[in-house]
Amino acid sequence: MTLPATLAQRLRLPLIAAPMLRVSGVDLVSAACCAGVIAAFPTVNARSPQELDAWLARIAADRDRVERPTAPPCPNLIMRRDPDAIAEDRRVLVHHRVAMVIVSVGSPAAVVGPLHGAGCLVFADVASLLHAEKALAAGLVLLGSGAGGQTGWVNGMSFVRAVRGIHDGPLVLAGGIHDGAALWAARVLGCDLGMMGTRFIATPESLASDAYRRMLVDSRLDDVLLTRAFTGLDTNMLRQSIAAAGLDPAALPTPSPDEARQVFGSEGSAHVRRWVDVWSAGHTVSGVDAVRPVAELIERIDAEYAAAQRETAALLARPPQPQP
Ligand SMILES: Cc1cc2nc3c(=O)[nH]c(=O)nc-3n(C[C@H](O)[C@H](O)[C@H](O)COP(=O)(O)O)c2cc1C
Repeated sequence: MTLPATLAQRLRLPLIAAPMLRVSGVDLVSAACCAGVIAAFPTVNARSPQELDAWLARIAADRDRVERPTAPPCPNLIMRRDPDAIAEDRRVLVHHRVAMVIVSVGSPAAVVGPLHGAGCLVFADVASLLHAEKALAAGLVLLGSGAGGQTGWVNGMSFVRAVRGIHDGPLVLAGGIHDGAALWAARVLGCDLGMMGTRFIATPESLASDAYRRMLVDSRLDDVLLTRAFTGLDTNMLRQSIAAAGLDPAALPTPSPDEARQVFGSEGSAHVRRWVDVWSAGHTVSGVDAVRPVAELIERIDAEYAAAQRETAALLARPPQPQP
């Protein structure tokens, strides 16, 4: 285990509830932290530095009321933004002495120094071995294939093993962590933590609409479509949401990121807005069988994790088969 012991000891599970644009709000984050799971959220989900400050104060107050150990929140700084806005968010995070931060979409160079200086553990989101080698952060989130949102393309198992060969700091796998058994498998592979996104969308505490949550329950793995249509980058989307928005999932355009923003961005030319009218999910959608409160979902993942550990112990205890 390469996570600092002071952090690892607080966790009920080696799990991060993933940062998700327009999905991870203060209610989801607070509920997960209070249930012993690290919960991430893009700082842009709070609409201003003042709201970000209020969110972090509320999460700290909620955690203070819980008698058992609780997990820290993990803000996510999206780097492809106005540098002044990033610096303002960073100041709020340092003021609240957050324990960990994930930096994604762009170089973390501008924030790593100040965050490390404030004693914060910094994780960089990477999707290739080259980016893992270049990352300045102490920790890495390996964005594997099949992830919700803008996905990686490298097979998660290969990615973890390749990076473990060159990096002995904290490692997190994102993408394909379907349930507690998959989380245990990630630990066996060499990860310190797994990250789950899609399963946490289907909770009443998320910022998702009821229709989005219901669609996740009704969808299966084959309903996830890999497309560049809405972001210009490989993104996993729910086929049914595309059809419901009046588009043909089999005849989507392949725009550049700028073109996609002009058409499907919040002020785009199409009547369909990405993330709002068409929805994302990872391959893990097949693990969503109901909308459950965050605490109940974590309870289930914990039970699945314990069952997988027992299964492993039973496999190891089985006497060796006689050789022919
Ligand atoms: C709706 C949605 C929004 C996302 N937004 C972000 C984001 O703002 N920042 C980020 O680093 N990752 C984002 N992600 C990726 C997740 O953090 C995580 O890598 C992914 O959900 C893991 O795959 P899973 O959903 O199959 O568990 C998003 C994913 C989804 C589904």
